[in-house]
Amino acid sequence: MAIQQELSMDLPVIDLDVFLAGPHDSEQAADALITYGALVLHDSRVSEDDNSTFLDLLEDYFAQPAEDLKTDERPELSYQVGVTLENTEKPKCAADEPCLKIIAKLDPAERPLDITAHSPDPKCRFFWRMSEKPPYETQFPGLNASNIVPKAESLRERWTPIMEQWGKSMKDAVANLAEMAAVGLDLPAETFREAGAYGPHLLAPTASDLVKYGEKDTILAGFHSDLNFLTIHGRSRYPGLHIWARNTGKRIAVKIPQGNYLLVQAGKQLEHLTGGLIKAGFHEVVVNEKTISVIKSRKVQFPERPLVRISSTFFWHLNSDFDLTPIQGLVARAQAIRDEKAKLGQDDGEPVVYEPMKVGHHVQK
Ligand SMILES: [Fe+2]
Repeated sequence: MAIQQELSMDLPVIDLDVFLAGPHDSEQAADALITYGALVLHDSRVSEDDNSTFLDLLEDYFAQPAEDLKTDERPELSYQVGVTLENTEKPKCAADEPCLKIIAKLDPAERPLDITAHSPDPKCRFFWRMSEKPPYETQFPGLNASNIVPKAESLRERWTPIMEQWGKSMKDAVANLAEMAAVGLDLPAETFREAGAYGPHLLAPTASDLVKYGEKDTILAGFHSDLNFLTIHGRSRYPGLHIWARNTGKRIAVKIPQGNYLLVQAGKQLEHLTGGLIKAGFHEVVVNEKTISVIKSRKVQFPERPLVRISSTFFWHLNSDFDLTPIQGLVARAQAIRDEKAKLGQDDGEPVVYEPMKVGHHVQK
């Protein structure tokens, strides 16, 4: 793919309907991931109503008193199921030299909000496992704890069906997108999808209390990239997600159209497997001017609803036993892009060595 000189600040919209209708010859998804590390996905199987029902459920859940939420915490299981309360998760980038260098290289006007204070994120999270137990002997048996269902009467009954319905929609969409990306990279269609079978996938919504943390320029989730293979998000009710496209150095405020649209971002497992041809996308969630204006309008339109920003996030992982060995043909393409950028005098960051390892070891690292 030739490096474009002028990149659009709107993310490419990739139509999964067209891909699923075949024939499978689309390069758009792979090109979007190479260029932006992110794309907007249209999938008419995904229902806006399901997202809305899910957002209502999670707003109600996180509006519960803190002592009720605490009963769903499982610190002894490293918070791998159930709730993680605010000010627990820290953005790893603040303590990571290469990551801080990436920020330093950005034009000051395009930098994320300052994370060097090492403050934990004022966001809560819920982990709902959506993985199947592998039918083979695994080197990484990990966690077999059951998912947590909240006890409150108003939530208990509707919790599992809503989580499963919305989780499955996003899981199916992202697995098909993985297929589309493989085809676009000239790999067999099933390459990533099969590597993701029995992966420890997670429906992982986050919640930010906008009554407490609704001031402009509050960091809700500090600058970072994701560890998994692909992350997919449904539309949030509140703007505030910023992403950095690899080839622009520009901060992009994400706009997901209304309807059957989702946002997909590349994670570190995808970067590793493609030898850096696709780079994990950096992002942050902050309170910006648009967040403030939605807070104002929702206060008027829905005065009885909790003022909580839910991000409807799903982490799609490769299975832990999969060999994360960079794919040779893609390593050569990654090098060709770096060479071309060097010729044009464009910076593509420090060279990275992607050592072959099991996905499970990559996660542990
Ligand atoms: Fe993230």
